[in-house]
Amino acid sequence: MDNIKIITEHWDKIDPKKIADYVAVGGYETLRKFVCEADPASALQEIKKSGLLGRGGAGFPIGDKLELVASSNKKEKYFICNLDESEPGTYKDREIAKNNPHLLIEGIALASLIIGAKKAFIYLNGNYEEEEEILECALSQSIENGFIGEGILGSEYGLEMEVFQGAGAYICGEETALLNSIEGRRGEPRLRPPYPTDKGLWGHPTAIGNAETVSNFPWIIKNGGAEYSRIGSADSPGTKLYTLGGSVKNTGIFELPTGISIRDLIQKSGGGMMLGKEFWFAQIGGASGRLVLENELEEKLVLKKGAKIPLGSGAVLVVDKTVDIHDMILSWTGFFRRESCGKCVPCREGTFRLFEIAKRMNNGKMSERDKAAVSDILWALENTTFCPFGKFSATAFRDTVEKLNISNS
Ligand SMILES: Cc1cc2nc3c(=O)[nH]c(=O)nc-3n(C[C@H](O)[C@H](O)[C@H](O)COP(=O)(O)O)c2cc1C
Ligand code: SF4
Repeated sequence: MDNIKIITEHWDKIDPKKIADYVAVGGYETLRKFVCEADPASALQEIKKSGLLGRGGAGFPIGDKLELVASSNKKEKYFICNLDESEPGTYKDREIAKNNPHLLIEGIALASLIIGAKKAFIYLNGNYEEEEEILECALSQSIENGFIGEGILGSEYGLEMEVFQGAGAYICGEETALLNSIEGRRGEPRLRPPYPTDKGLWGHPTAIGNAETVSNFPWIIKNGGAEYSRIGSADSPGTKLYTLGGSVKNTGIFELPTGISIRDLIQKSGGGMMLGKEFWFAQIGGASGRLVLENELEEKLVLKKGAKIPLGSGAVLVVDKTVDIHDMILSWTGFFRRESCGKCVPCREGTFRLFEIAKRMNNGKMSERDKAAVSDILWALENTTFCPFGKFSATAFRDTVEKLNISNS
């Protein structure tokens, strides 16, 4: 199963603007079978059996989330596909939209019908203009061909789907800020509970799933959850789209089973380090991700909550010893200062202060006063903020201080 491709299988055979190309490779067959058999409970069981964990970063079992909404007896429900994708170094979801938009649409349709939603949204990153054009084109073709809309393929099922162009803010990828954004409110997180599965869009039960997560649905429902659960690592099965960047010979997107080691990803897919470059560290999961040194490269890339090195969105950045760490610190801290939504004080002030300290660093060193302040700020970001953004903004800085030992003046 090491070479199995689920998401990227037909990327080289499909013109994203031609629905016939997708249909020719068996596309929409799972949706057709679903509406003919009219047995959403069985489809849900296959998703649960697959053990599929969300690909948006948090690694929550998507089957459990769908079940919560499916079991609600409220009439109005929504499904939202999260395609905000603002994590630096992450570009897998936009590639799904660009290369096989119908796989995404079919996955969203299946998720929506399983939970009994009559309306689905694709929440698209505000900067993704090309993807918007492709998705709008694909969606109108799927409506013309009877896959989306009233009476899907002559059945009693109906689903309206809309591409919603987001605000282009990192925080709007967080699911409750995303809900606010669609509702026309300020894009900032809501207090949980209530969770979106209980009170989501306009107060109605809502399931939110990442674009890569739902793109697995057609394969799982067609081949069975048990078959899917045999791919990759047992505690977070399936394939994963890894976006590999930095000082390796081959950069790009690689679909590989979960559970591969960081070393294998760098060596086998990335072809090893660029000529003349020496490995320093890798950052796993984007700007909010942990730094790993040479002695941690055997760690397995898994999505399970509580993993030692969280895989997050799947971005892996390889950094060599010629890179100026001060530039990287400025880039991380500048990003989080800019993207903080400002709702809570520890994050609004903490990200601002970290950036100020980063600017004051001299040759990667901090003064004793700044070192003491950093220790307090990182603690506040990790322990007192309103949403996980605070912790995200502290991760790389803490690892830089503790693992790269750059702060000793
Ligand atoms: C600050 C922040 C940013 C996030 N950005 C994204 C994002 O861009 N895309 C995404 O799918 N999930 C993002 N998430 C996670 C979502 O809140 C949510 O868990 C996810 O969309 C659920 O889908 P999944 O279960 O398929 O992973 C973010 C979370 C936080 C805290
Ligand atoms: S932690 Fe940051 S992003 Fe999250 S609510 Fe507070 S200010 Fe906003």
